[in-house]
Amino acid sequence: MPECYARSCKLSARPGQLTISCAVPVSAAWPLQMVETDGGIRAVDWVWCDAASGRAGAMVPLPADTQSVRGRGIEVIIAANWKMNPPLADAAALAVAYAADSFDGVTRILFPPAPYLVQMGVRLDGTDMLVGGQDCHHNASGAHTGDVAAGMLADCGARVVLLGHSERRADHGEDDALVATKAAAALSAGLDVMICVGETLDQREAGSAEAVVTVQLEGSVPAGIDASRLMLAYEPVWAIGTGKVAGVEEIAAMHAAIQRWLAKRDLASVPILYGGSVKPGNADAIFGVPDVGGALVGGASLKAEDFNGICSAGARAAAARS
Ligand code: PGA
Repeated sequence: MPECYARSCKLSARPGQLTISCAVPVSAAWPLQMVETDGGIRAVDWVWCDAASGRAGAMVPLPADTQSVRGRGIEVIIAANWKMNPPLADAAALAVAYAADSFDGVTRILFPPAPYLVQMGVRLDGTDMLVGGQDCHHNASGAHTGDVAAGMLADCGARVVLLGHSERRADHGEDDALVATKAAAALSAGLDVMICVGETLDQREAGSAEAVVTVQLEGSVPAGIDASRLMLAYEPVWAIGTGKVAGVEEIAAMHAAIQRWLAKRDLASVPILYGGSVKPGNADAIFGVPDVGGALVGGASLKAEDFNGICSAGARAAAARS
C-alpha cells in the first residue's frame, strides 16, 4: 500500500480507497499518481484537504488536448497577476474570497507565484477560476536552476501561462524571440498562452507606440499558433502599477491596431486584454472599449473587494455584449 506522510498527516491508498488522516487541521496537497515520461517522473493527480473550508478532493490535470481556456464560450477574461505577492497566509485568504464568488460571462484566471500554484489550485478547485503560471522556461527540463518548465506548471494544475510581461522583459532581459520559444514550449505542454505587449512612455511620446507593439507581436507570437490557445494582453508599461491608466481613446486605437494585426494572420478570434492600473472605478469604461476582451489586473487583484468589483464590471460588459 503506497503511503506518504506530511508532518502530522498520513495518506494511504489502496485500489478503490483513499484515506487521509490528520492529527491537526491542515491545508495540503499530495501527489497521488506518478508516471514516467521522457522528461522524467511526473505527478499526474493530486489529492488535497483544506482546513479553512473543511473540503477535500482530488485534482486531476486535464489532458493536453483539453478545450482551451477560452473554449468555454465566455466573453470577458479577467486575470489576477499577483506578481511576487502576497505572503502565503494572505494568498490563501484571498483565494478563499475569490472562490466565494462567480460572475456570469466572465472567465477568471489567477496567476499566483509558482510555489503557491498547487495550494491555490486546491483552494479554487470546483470553482470557475483557473490557475496559471507567471512564466516558464523554454526548455522542457534540464540544468536551469531556479526556472520552472511548462510541463511542471501543467502538472501543478496550471491551464495557461503568462509570457513576455514587461517586468520579465525588463528584469530578465527577455526579448521577443525568447518569448516565442517559451510560448512554443508552453503549447507543447498543453498550456494556453497569454502574451503581453506594450510600449514605454518614451516610445509613446515619440509616437512609435503602435510600431513597437507590432514588432513585439511579430517576434513574440509563434507563427502558425492555434488561435484558440492564444490570448494577448496590451499593457502600456507606463500604466503598470503607476495608477496612470491609458485613456479610452489610446486603448481603443491600440486594440484596433492589434486586432488588425491578428486578422491578417487568421487570428481574429484571439481576445486582447488591457492591463495597467485597472480598478473597479475605471473597469466599466475600459470594458466598454471595442476590442477589449478583458483585463490583466496586478495591484487591484491583491484586494478581493477590488478584484470582485472589476469582475462585476466584466459581467456587466458580457451581458451588454450578448
Ligand atoms: P497593475 O499591473 O494592475 O498593478 O498596473 C498590471 C500588470 O502588470 O499585469
